[in-house]
Amino acid sequence: MNSSTTSRLFFGKFVHNVDLENLEYIHDGVIVVSETGEILHVEKDVTQEQLANLASQYSLTADQVTILEENQFFMPGFIDTHIHAPQYVFAGSGMNLQLLEWLETYTFPREAFFKSTEYAKKAYSDVVSQLIRNGTTTACYYGTIHVEACKILADTVDEMGQRAYIGKVNMDRNSPDYYIETTEDSVEKTEEFIQFMLEKSKKNPRVYPVITPRFVPSCTGDLMRKLGELARKYDVPVQSHLCENRGEIEWVQQLHPELPSYTAVYDHYGLLTDKTIMAHCVHLTEEECALIKKRNAGIAHCANSNFALRSGICNVRKLLEDKQKVGMGTDVAGGYTTSMLDAIRTAAIASAAVSFTEQDPNGNNYSQLKLAELIYLATVGGAKVMGLEERIGNFMVGKQFDALLIDPSKPESNFRLYSHDDFYTTFEKFIHIGDDRNISRVYIDGRLVNSKD
Ligand code: GUN
Ligand code: FE
Repeated sequence: MNSSTTSRLFFGKFVHNVDLENLEYIHDGVIVVSETGEILHVEKDVTQEQLANLASQYSLTADQVTILEENQFFMPGFIDTHIHAPQYVFAGSGMNLQLLEWLETYTFPREAFFKSTEYAKKAYSDVVSQLIRNGTTTACYYGTIHVEACKILADTVDEMGQRAYIGKVNMDRNSPDYYIETTEDSVEKTEEFIQFMLEKSKKNPRVYPVITPRFVPSCTGDLMRKLGELARKYDVPVQSHLCENRGEIEWVQQLHPELPSYTAVYDHYGLLTDKTIMAHCVHLTEEECALIKKRNAGIAHCANSNFALRSGICNVRKLLEDKQKVGMGTDVAGGYTTSMLDAIRTAAIASAAVSFTEQDPNGNNYSQLKLAELIYLATVGGAKVMGLEERIGNFMVGKQFDALLIDPSKPESNFRLYSHDDFYTTFEKFIHIGDDRNISRVYIDGRLVNSKD
């Protein structure tokens, strides 16, 4: 629906994180957005007179002014820092196995289908539209090893107006013969894809490449070294999986006895940088935490997947206390849903479980993540992990307007409001029991990309 945009003014309620621990609830707020989607002006407690003055100050006509209905509000778009676009085709199925068996049994056979560009076109159109309608305005995607299919994913994201990093997956060892590449091919196609994406990004800066070694077991040292060189040459981000599952960690130790840890392997090959996004990080040692922090790499917390594949429970509270960069990911299809609302809810449950069972060095139980912290992880935290905090994550002047218009009063809504509901409880209800039916409109770069009005 890429409707072209003019400057706009939005008047009503807004909620966003001002920092990790605080959500700001703005009443009678105004946000003015430029033609290119930049937030020019934010103001709260605006009177009708001030509203008229602001509209005239920005030379806006009545049709450029949107006035929200009583219970509606805007919140920042969700940022999914870890999702496998090709795995949408089997999301919600095959949840009986743990990671390594799951990869062999379900994942690799299904990803192999993306050799067909026709198949890729249909599947990628399905997944990108599904994410957008669920409010994911920015995604950090894994593709497959097939460069043509990855280009189709990039074209789809471009056409649908989403903001995304997209990576061609690299796999040159320990992979089935029907789904593996030579080291040489893997590097060559990755460079071709990076160049394709950088070219695309000149016209549409919403799309960008990310180097994507699947994980250490499926990439030789030679390949990882060359990918590290590409990351430096093009100064682009890197994403992979780290310390997700105990069996996986043991396997990495067997493959790399010369290096002290799983994290050290990525670091050794130049893949742990301040632009790196490591998914899961459930079972990190203290040394690994320190190394990630030293390199200023980011972590994608994928709570649904960690439960569904029974990988373990990540102690996000500890990561936050250690001042690590943390965002959230759905990890479709290890995680069974594309919805970041579900990612938030499952992260809440994971943090409750940690709070029952784990103590900090002083012997106190870790505290559960609060609503503000959960929303932060799904917005500002994700932006930081992706190096996009200057552009997106909340409604600060100078950032881009990536926003969701939430309508809690839709007749088909899963929840109802009562006289005792204020803005805070309305927001809580949406986060806990709302769904895509309440996500009435989705804006990316100020452009309306999805509307259920
Ligand atoms: N580790 C390597 N590949 C994958 C994958 O596709 N999903 C998850 N969850 N972990 C992985
Ligand atoms: Fe994953």
